[in-house]
Amino acid sequence: MDEKTEEDEQESHASSSKDDDLSGIEKMSKYLMFKLTLSDTEEKMGVKAKQILQELTIRGIVDFIKENKCRNIITMAGAGISTSAGIPDFRSPSSGLYYNLQKYKLPYPQAIFEIDFFKTNPEPFFVLAKELFPEHLKPTLSHYFIKLLSDKGLLLRHYTQNIDTLERISGLPPEKLVEAHGTFHSGQGVVKPDIIFFGEMLPERFYHSIDNDFPKADLLIIMGSSLVVQPFASLIDKVKSTCPRLLINKEKVSVQDRLFRFFGLSHGFVFDPKSSECARDVAWIGDCDTGCKLLAEELGWNEELEKLMETDHRRIDAEKSEASK
Ligand code: OAD
Repeated sequence: MDEKTEEDEQESHASSSKDDDLSGIEKMSKYLMFKLTLSDTEEKMGVKAKQILQELTIRGIVDFIKENKCRNIITMAGAGISTSAGIPDFRSPSSGLYYNLQKYKLPYPQAIFEIDFFKTNPEPFFVLAKELFPEHLKPTLSHYFIKLLSDKGLLLRHYTQNIDTLERISGLPPEKLVEAHGTFHSGQGVVKPDIIFFGEMLPERFYHSIDNDFPKADLLIIMGSSLVVQPFASLIDKVKSTCPRLLINKEKVSVQDRLFRFFGLSHGFVFDPKSSECARDVAWIGDCDTGCKLLAEELGWNEELEKLMETDHRRIDAEKSEASK
């Protein structure tokens, strides 16, 4: 005879004799409530918690890096890493691009990046692109932090949704870069730029790289993205369950739904340190550059990072003044 397991015990609780009068739906909802309460209790007691980081803070991530526990870091980025370079993000209330497109008289804001709309009316896109991406933009401290990870041989790959080319400008080697939504060069004139519009397939390099890279990652750092655009957003679920994930963002995003977790669907972060899931997700809420600076300071890389940025910004200034002669 099979042993009676904890699981059986829970199920028999859910179907006690008193429940005989309830309808199927009522029984199911009672059962779900019971399971949810149970999983809450487990979380409060820290049952099953498997600590991968010594502490679920940026300090815990720093120790993890310092202890040489990772050599295959994947970074993922969105528009938030470029806002300090003067490029707005898309969805931040009031400052986000999607809140400031009235003059283009679009049917809805996202149309400006939709391929079908672009085919019939490309002008708004080109006007916007010129405005958004003036020449001689300077990468931000966050970009140089990613470059520094690469220089130190710790970066497996950087996945970006950004089309502003700032990663390239920062000197990140092309083989370390996957531009998931394509890339835009402001000098391309009226031909369709090499960016991915909504309604288009992502580049082949994206699909090919994710299958190879994500199972190998030993640390995932996500910066400046609302993680709402697929398939990019779900990449965070492609790393091993033991891979720590650090979110550096102005707000918590992609937090795992309790109901999803209950059904064993592990989509999104679990930031609660008492969670019954593996304790490996850290949220650092604030500005990307400040978060990267803090990481660099704690890792003892601050001087190197500042020098890298200063030298490269001087190079960009020199090129700008050369071009204006
Ligand atoms: P969003 O605008 O959707 O999200 C930016 C995220 O970064 C938000 O969560 C902000 O709170 C945060 N943020 C902004 N500035 C920040 C800063 N300085 N420091 C830290 N966090 C900051 O931008 P994406 O996630 O990149 O697609 O958007 C994804 C895609 O949606 C884009 O690639 C674009 C857009 O439609 C296409 O154009 C195909």
